[in-house]
Amino acid sequence: SIKHVILSGGVGSRLWPLSRKSFPKQYLDIFDGKSLFEMTVERNYNLADEVIVIGNLENTHLSQSVMDKSKIAYVNIIESTPRNTAAAIAFAAFASEPDDILIVTPSDHIIDGEEEYNNAISAAIAKAEEGNIVTFGILPTKPETGYGYIEYKGDRVVSFREKPNSVTAQEFISKGSFLWNSGMFCFKAGVLLEELKLYNPEVYEKSKIAWKNCKDGKLDRELSMDIPSISIDYAVMERSKKIKVVPAKFGWSDLGSFESVYEYLKTIGHPVDAYGNMVIGTKNYTAFLGLENTIFVHTETANLILHKDQSQDVKTLYNQLEKLN
Ligand code: GDD
Ligand code: MG
Repeated sequence: SIKHVILSGGVGSRLWPLSRKSFPKQYLDIFDGKSLFEMTVERNYNLADEVIVIGNLENTHLSQSVMDKSKIAYVNIIESTPRNTAAAIAFAAFASEPDDILIVTPSDHIIDGEEEYNNAISAAIAKAEEGNIVTFGILPTKPETGYGYIEYKGDRVVSFREKPNSVTAQEFISKGSFLWNSGMFCFKAGVLLEELKLYNPEVYEKSKIAWKNCKDGKLDRELSMDIPSISIDYAVMERSKKIKVVPAKFGWSDLGSFESVYEYLKTIGHPVDAYGNMVIGTKNYTAFLGLENTIFVHTETANLILHKDQSQDVKTLYNQLEKLN
């Protein structure tokens, strides 16, 4: 069968203070009256027979309430501690039959163009049936360092490079033969597990042990802590020879940082002043004097004022604040 696997265990720390561990960005309804998580579920509603949600114990009630409302058959895998996407995807694969096709998606992206999206998924499923691990490539618009880069020829992946530094990203962009990795994947559960076992046996073995000891869908904390925290991009995508790409024709935005949230909100008509300043989270009149490209983020318990160019550094700030608590 075909399963839609929703990765929902990230904190979205680059969107602090909008995004919190107790209420990550995929559950906020700041975008379209609906949360990004709900949009993710609906977008894939007709494409899969079953849904697997993998998220964190601290906010699993948020995904559960959406899923219960939707009446879709789903399995919930609950992580007691986040171990990054290699382990999360391994759990979904262990929970499936080797021949099941998994469509793995993040829960926090904006996607535009239903028909193009459905076509891309169908193309990916066909390639996954043949034993490939399929990525979805987005035409890059700038040397973004927060993404993976796919060097491609047709549907063949020449190389996959996760999060290059800015000099390398610039090189990739000027070469013109690279796409951004969208963070969505499609493969047979068995194929992914074979590749993980080959290229990162430690994650494979330790995830397997944790999975075998999983009770009522909940993973044991101690056993999970043993699993190396590494993303699927580094663990498998950079190394596997079975990677293919479907160049995506749909609109895509990873609302990963305030810079991309700014771009997105601007396109849907959220006010920006003549100097590129924006207010998020309050309707209070706010004035900017002598500032450019500044974003003011307001929440009930914390404010953030940042220059747009500093968007990637919010993660560092978040990590520092975490340590203080
Ligand atoms: N269940 C679970 N457990 N989910 C997780 C975990 C975890 O430990 N860590 C992250 N996730 C979820 C996030 O909630 C998100 O939906 C997805 O997995 C991807 O994680 P991110 O942390 O957002 O990854 P990224 O944005 O740095 O990079 C990935 O996405 C980019 C595009 O948005 C990579 O695949 C890049 O190559 C890609 O370009
Ligand atoms: Mg992301």
